[in-house]
Amino acid sequence: MKTKVVEIMEIDHKAEEELKEAAGVLQKGGLVAFPTETVYGLGADALNGDAVKKIYLAKGRPSDNPIIAHIADVSILESLTPAKLQDVEILAENFWPGPLTVVLPKRPQVPDATTGGLSTVAVRMPDNPIALELIRQSGRPIAAPSANISGRPSPTKGDHVVQDLMGRVDVIIKSGDCRVGIESTVLDMTGPVPVILRPGILTPEQLSGVLQKEVVFDPGILSRFENEQGPDGGEPPGPKSPGMKYTHYAPKAEMLILRGEPAEVKREIERLRSEKEQAGVRVGTVLFEDKAFEKAAHDFFSMLRELDDQGVDLILAGALNDRDSLGLAVMNRMLKAAGHKVIDVR
Ligand code: TXA
Ligand code: MG
Repeated sequence: MKTKVVEIMEIDHKAEEELKEAAGVLQKGGLVAFPTETVYGLGADALNGDAVKKIYLAKGRPSDNPIIAHIADVSILESLTPAKLQDVEILAENFWPGPLTVVLPKRPQVPDATTGGLSTVAVRMPDNPIALELIRQSGRPIAAPSANISGRPSPTKGDHVVQDLMGRVDVIIKSGDCRVGIESTVLDMTGPVPVILRPGILTPEQLSGVLQKEVVFDPGILSRFENEQGPDGGEPPGPKSPGMKYTHYAPKAEMLILRGEPAEVKREIERLRSEKEQAGVRVGTVLFEDKAFEKAAHDFFSMLRELDDQGVDLILAGALNDRDSLGLAVMNRMLKAAGHKVIDVR
């Protein structure tokens, strides 16, 4: 497939024309990769099952993993869900456009390809003018997972998308770096208590603050931090968000996380690095300043890709403090990238 790559840094007259053309591609059932504030997305018409199936093919993604429908206007919610929840209105007013995805009961016309056969649909309004204009021009909700080959680190720069999807999609819209750098917070609103299925930059405190009620983490998220094993010593309980069960974000190199007091972790990483390098192993490190959680979120995926490009064999990463909820969100990705290989430094 021939991929058209366009670069848009701001919405001027030329960009408008490019976006109109890309929206036309979406209307005809084609695939368009576009920037959002979290990570780049790979879009197709969310109400066209055949179009959405092309996303799975292009990404090599398991087809029971549901996709988020992106909207540019809250009025489009009606076409996706029959639910008229006051809590969702409050969330939309406070956090949309922004890095929040809500899971709601779906309407029958939302195809199984979009929802992975579930009776629910995930919806979000991204905070990026290019994404919003593209969605608006297309006149439909746009299903979009992250625009990477399945299993690779999520793309936070236009070049990452080109690396992964050139020749596999119709259009790639390149723009600047994604502001947030990790994917949206996924919040299940189908039960009596809102449940965070995937942690992101929006914290439970922020969400419960505006909702004036308790918001909880899916137990599957937390168990992975407290103790890398389930209660019986086996796998931790499976999370409810189907996407959480797949190998994810994995760099080509083997990756190990070192956890403990920051200064000691740093020392141990240096010691291990020189030991391994003497044995001829090419070592890369991922180490963030203490409490620099936003920077960690912004840089994490892109660092993994850079280390892969450098061809390192082993990545040594310093754990972030997971008592901070953004730290926890980055740790969620780091643990998956490392296949949950953690060493406690004492
Ligand atoms: O920030 C983001 O959310 C990015 C940008 C492109 O918007 N998108 C993204 O999509 O990360 P994806 O497909 O890589 O991750 C979607 C997550 C998965 O964990 C998936 O299982 C979950 O959302 N999800 C989607 N629909 C769901 C549903 N109906 N019920 C539960 N979880 C759902
Ligand atoms: Mg993804």
